[in-house]
Amino acid sequence: MKNPMDKNGLGKPLPSRNDHINGPKTMTTASGAPVVNNEDTMTAGERGPQVLQDFYLLEKHAHFNREVIPERRMHAKGSGAFGTFTVTHDITQYTKAKIFSEIGKKTEMFARFSTVAGERGAADAERDIRGFAVKFYTEDGNWDIVGNNTPVFFFRDPKKFIDLNHAVKRDPRTNLRSPNTNWDFWTSLPESLLQVTITMSDRGIPSSFRYMHGFGSHTYSLINDKNERVWVKFHHRSVQGIQNFTDQEAEMVVGKDRESSGRDLYEAIEKGMYPKWKFYIQVMTEEQAKDCPFNPFDLTKMWPKKAYPLIEVGEWELNRNADNFYQDVEQAAFTPANIVPGIGFSPDRMLQTRIFAYGDAQRYRLGVNHHQIPVNSPKGVKHPHSFHRDGQMRVDGNLGSELHYAPNSYGDWNDHPDMAEPPMEGGNADYYDFRKDDHDYFTQPGELFRAMTDAQQLVLVENTARAMEDATLQIKHRHIRNCHQADESYGTMLAAALGIDIDTVDLTEASYDSRAQWEKDRHRDADL
Ligand code: HEM
Repeated sequence: MKNPMDKNGLGKPLPSRNDHINGPKTMTTASGAPVVNNEDTMTAGERGPQVLQDFYLLEKHAHFNREVIPERRMHAKGSGAFGTFTVTHDITQYTKAKIFSEIGKKTEMFARFSTVAGERGAADAERDIRGFAVKFYTEDGNWDIVGNNTPVFFFRDPKKFIDLNHAVKRDPRTNLRSPNTNWDFWTSLPESLLQVTITMSDRGIPSSFRYMHGFGSHTYSLINDKNERVWVKFHHRSVQGIQNFTDQEAEMVVGKDRESSGRDLYEAIEKGMYPKWKFYIQVMTEEQAKDCPFNPFDLTKMWPKKAYPLIEVGEWELNRNADNFYQDVEQAAFTPANIVPGIGFSPDRMLQTRIFAYGDAQRYRLGVNHHQIPVNSPKGVKHPHSFHRDGQMRVDGNLGSELHYAPNSYGDWNDHPDMAEPPMEGGNADYYDFRKDDHDYFTQPGELFRAMTDAQQLVLVENTARAMEDATLQIKHRHIRNCHQADESYGTMLAAALGIDIDTVDLTEASYDSRAQWEKDRHRDADL
């Protein structure tokens, strides 16, 4: 078998880098005074107890005790780099966003890729979704597309997001990751089948971040200079192509290198092999959305490319590693709330909640003034003029003596009503059951399954069977039923891979009403 470590064609690893040091190599305290002794702690007598007076000992320990900040609750393990976006095609008919204003225009950017479930020290080459977050430093502010390497997600209501993360992270008693928990949750949400199928497929373990596509996943708005809206999906397509590890290859890679994707990205950029992605949009008019056979704001569904073809927009490359990982990558703060004029939201419930969640998490993880951290600051804006004042670690002048209220008699702090988006339609507030709106969970997973070659189908069910090994029989039956509903062969092949006689599985169609289905499953399958 060929060595999976060489799969990405990087050749020999780089020698370890000696940090360039600006200025003298002598050591000072945090307040700049020379450190007299960094080897011996001051003691009362050669063999006596140490003294409190050794303030540098205290400073060193105190700082160390505070080095660790909270990790991102999900997507904790990741790598990032800076780069440049270039417009190659005109889409000004759809959007007035300045980033797209002319062909050839370049905009600085930063990207971070991640795994989802693993903690900050987890191995990279795991079967998991990859986070795909991109920040463009536009003249009108930072625009972030905080997406994944999959076009869809496990469900479409944000109340389930916390449950997903509990289910894929560690068990509260054993502190172990539990396939049973994971699969119990996924199989109980039939709308997750498309995302689960992608994750278990031969694309489930990208060989590195360079060899995967990225998706904004949600539907967003584009708004043009006539204030007309179209709905849009964002796609980043890897110019390097797609490359993945099999389960067996990944096992070998993880055994040798837990940082395989991060190392690959870093080394490729250091060697001048700048990874590139082409940027595309799919467009749906508001009229088309009204007639669409599925809910176009449902994050568990793809927009078929035949009906909504990819429109090429630009290309970006990553060409500069961060000089300091913690400063730029760990402290990077992406949020779907970072949009700019010409780009807007959609009524997708998941997106709407994410508008809140990220800034909130970052105020906790990094502090209320995390916008001042260079990677997060609006570098593209000539005169940023944010109203916010004070808060921990405010160090940018804090707007000096400028007025801190509006309205005022001095004409300060004017908003931009001219940038308002066209209104979004709504109705009466209630807890609407999305399942009543659209409960076609199975058409797209079935189509995806049928688009696979025989070999890919086999890999899919074998990967699934391995991943489900420790799940209960009840859960395995439920997944067979879901897959069978998407495509009979999907269910039959999975049953065979799991070593289960398909005739023992109740293949009655699952009800779209999940609550009723959960009850039924509990009773019917309890003795399995
Ligand atoms: C990270 C919340 C769904 C992609 C995060 C973080 C939070 C969060 C709180 C950590 C942010 C930080 O500490 O900086 C949520 C909620 C969701 C949701 C509440 C649904 C209701 C999604 C979806 C995608 C996604 C659907 C992709 C389409 C990401 C990525 C990161 C992330 C890529 C890491 C960003 C980085 O590299 O810093 N999410 N998320 N999330 N999320 Fe989500």
